Amino acid sequence: MRTKRITVRVKLLNGKHILITGGAGFIGSNMVEMLAETNRITVVDNLSNVDDRYIRRYLSKKNFRFLKEDISSLQERTDLRDVDVVVHLAANSDVRNGSNGPEVDFRNNVAGTFNLLEYMRKNDVGEILFASSSTVYGEASLLPTPENYGPYMPISSYGASKMAGEGFITSYSHYYGMRGTIFRFANIVGKNSTHGVIFDFIRKLQKNREELEILGDGTQRKSYMHVQDCVGSMIHVHERSAKTDIINLGNRETTSVTKIAHTVAEKMGLHDAKFRYTGGLDGRGWAGDVKVAQLDVNKLFSTGWANKYNSDQSVEVAVEETLEQMGKGK
Ligand SMILES: NC(=O)c1ccc[n+]([C@@H]2O[C@H](COP(=O)([O-])OP(=O)(O)OC[C@H]3O[C@@H](n4cnc5c(N)ncnc54)[C@H](O)[C@@H]3O)[C@@H](O)[C@H]2O)c1
Repeated sequence: MRTKRITVRVKLLNGKHILITGGAGFIGSNMVEMLAETNRITVVDNLSNVDDRYIRRYLSKKNFRFLKEDISSLQERTDLRDVDVVVHLAANSDVRNGSNGPEVDFRNNVAGTFNLLEYMRKNDVGEILFASSSTVYGEASLLPTPENYGPYMPISSYGASKMAGEGFITSYSHYYGMRGTIFRFANIVGKNSTHGVIFDFIRKLQKNREELEILGDGTQRKSYMHVQDCVGSMIHVHERSAKTDIINLGNRETTSVTKIAHTVAEKMGLHDAKFRYTGGLDGRGWAGDVKVAQLDVNKLFSTGWANKYNSDQSVEVAVEETLEQMGKGK
């Protein structure tokens, strides 16, 4: 059965010049789609993860500009002085490879964020929305985990780099009067995804329709949020907040990896596919994988925001959307 599709609409930022870093990527291209109708958009993306396929249709539009460059080089630009708001999504988004080379997280996510903030300071750009992550909490002993949980003990260099990014934003807010809204995302899924568990399972089953390799023991449980709810709630929350703040984004429920595998196999019509679990360290998918991530989202809902999809529905819709984009593999 197909999950009913809903279009998320929010009161949009209006008539602003918005700089979206990482705007060619998964969440970034959905953000472009949400904001481009009523604002002037500049996307900065070095295309290190994906080409420009998801923003190509905007390239000829008058209110849209694409700069193929690294966020660290923005400081040298003299033509980006009239930006009103930065939506900072550019990052090394590959959590899995941290243990093989943590320097990538440092360079893109820590130094990159610092350089972006320096560009903002020098050009009087006063507002930033930042994509942080539930990984800052590490293996929280309190579930669901609220924003004021501590101490933070990330178990991946990715989580550590997001924690550093948050700290630079709050300190720049204090020093220079910027307003930052820091969003700790659960797992975001949906259209234009280029990585993550759903994308991996589909790709693997397209290659081998009989057997699906599942990293870990399949009991890893996380909260999934649809990308439309993610970008919609970011704008909704930022427009209603008066000062720098931190907020969890996700759903109340969680979905297990094995359940996702069943959903993918079922929607691909592969009812007899066998699941082979790699086991992993304590059943984790990889070193640095948090086994259970469940965010307390009361603060989000107290702003009047309601997600259109719960965790399971987000996964179902995302599987359908990803299959439409990747082909059914038949
Ligand atoms: N997808 C999720 O579930 C999730 C969860 C938590 C946090 N996040 C964060 O949300 C943001 C967007 O994630 P996504 O899933 O869309 O990932 P993505 O990889 O699709 O998008 C990131 C984009 O940033 C670009 N980029 C990377 N380093 C850059 C640099 N130094 N300069 C310029 N561009 C650069 C990449 O080319 C890519 O297009 C990231 O900051 C990520 O860490 C995502």
